[in-house]
Amino acid sequence: MEKKCFYITTPIYYPSGNPHIGHAYCSTLADILARYKRMVGYDVFFLTGTDEHGLKIEKNAKKEGVEPKEYVDRIVENFKKLWVELKLSNDDFIRTTDERHIKCVQSCFSTFVKNNDVKLGKYEGWYCVPCESFWTDTQVGEEHICPDCGRVVEKATEECYFFDTKKYLPQLNKLFDEEKFITPVNKKNEMINTFIKPGLEDLCVSRTSFTWGVPILENPKHVAYVWVDALINYISALGYRSEDETLFKKFWENPNSEIVHLVGADINRFHTIYWPEFLFSLGLRTPSRVFVHGLLMTKDGKMSKSKGNVISPYPLIERYGVDALRYYLAREIVFGNDGQFTPEQFIERINADLVNSYGNLVSRTISMIEKYFGGVTPEYLKNVNKEDDEIDQLIDITLKKYIEEFDDLKVTEAITDAMNLVSRANKYIEETTPWVLVKDETKTDNLKSVLAHLARVLFVSTKLLEPVLVEKSTEVYKKLNLTAEENTFENVYNEHFLDDKQVEKGENLFPRLNVNEEIEYIKSVMVKVL
Ligand code: MSP
Repeated sequence: MEKKCFYITTPIYYPSGNPHIGHAYCSTLADILARYKRMVGYDVFFLTGTDEHGLKIEKNAKKEGVEPKEYVDRIVENFKKLWVELKLSNDDFIRTTDERHIKCVQSCFSTFVKNNDVKLGKYEGWYCVPCESFWTDTQVGEEHICPDCGRVVEKATEECYFFDTKKYLPQLNKLFDEEKFITPVNKKNEMINTFIKPGLEDLCVSRTSFTWGVPILENPKHVAYVWVDALINYISALGYRSEDETLFKKFWENPNSEIVHLVGADINRFHTIYWPEFLFSLGLRTPSRVFVHGLLMTKDGKMSKSKGNVISPYPLIERYGVDALRYYLAREIVFGNDGQFTPEQFIERINADLVNSYGNLVSRTISMIEKYFGGVTPEYLKNVNKEDDEIDQLIDITLKKYIEEFDDLKVTEAITDAMNLVSRANKYIEETTPWVLVKDETKTDNLKSVLAHLARVLFVSTKLLEPVLVEKSTEVYKKLNLTAEENTFENVYNEHFLDDKQVEKGENLFPRLNVNEEIEYIKSVMVKVL
């Protein structure tokens, strides 16, 4: 049977300056989803990249006295480097300055022209350079402030093409009727109430006042508006309209492919209103889901250099390991809600969940197997201790819920369920008291059963945490002496999988953190690093 496909994308990032933890948030969550889907057998394509055109980049390059391409070539490396540090498993990295992308944008724009979906006109409005967004009088108010970033906008008047957004409105409305097209549902309502109900305005899709963009073939003094340019990355990266459309056919056109765009709340409207309209014009299918995650802030609001509250992911990765950061991002902030980064919560979360709960289960289980059975995992027995059944049942329930939740993009819930299994197993140790059982010869089966159950929970929970704990899970598999062939997801269902396996304790997974010292440390590196 043909494997199901899963195409997951992050937005393509503006490569300005150094990426912060907010950027890491979106790309890490996408990576966790990609790894989960691969683990359970999907054919996955995970795309990320950079959005490199526009007035802001042109201005920045000029300030530095270099050509825009030279400027972006340099700063894109900041993102590429971070993605490696975060252990992202992306299958491609698209840049909007790639030749393959430019050609695709030009070809798509030609279709808009041929279909009469764009018309020449004059744009008069307010433009926010950093956000590359146009706003109406009402949106910028009397103070002329960008509703997204709060900076002052500029009046802009120029010839441009307008995309007829009303033409595809019936199709768009139908798409909005699909229950899962935009989630969480409050983000869908926001789009309906703010943009669709008041009536969509035509969208300006080209610019003539600067040149750093993709030139429109039919009218080369125009360059494509950055959002048209940027959104097309999701199909140009798959080779749409290139000599080789294999990936496009497999991951976009294939009805057996689920297409998920992860985006932050600030760019929801581009992905759920304009992008589907462009796709209608091109005669292509629309994504299965646009998942709108929240923004990661600090106590004093959105991160910004001027406020001095920007968190860089680097010192966190260096000091606590990439898994600690990945875990924090997936578990602490409910996926879909806004979240707050505080050094206190970060340290407490790592200590409570990774050190005290998961790390403890790993070391206690393996130590006891070593101490009581010479490191050989006892055979899995049924109906020996009354608590064993509860563990068996919880494993079954957890596996079922985890898959349902992950498939529904409920990452935090799925990870929480995996961790609940870990907590339950720690409690099971206290209930069954293996250190007492070992002293009573008549209780050997009881002891064996406890340790076999614990070993199974250890394997199952590690598998479930694997998409998040990319380094530590490998360490645990080593402790369990698993070969690559053995180490499959299907084995979570195999109760006897670890029977007779020789295990080895090795080093502790996560060192305990001194709360006060570490909070001070994080505070001291918060902004300095940028
Ligand atoms: N270039 C556009 C996207 C084009 S996609 C066709 C863009 N780039 S961005 O670099 O400004 O933002 C990229 C992503 O990072 C967005 O999804 C944005 O919401 C997310 N985040 C930026 N700051 C963030 C936080 N503080 N918290 C969470 N996500 C944040 O928009």
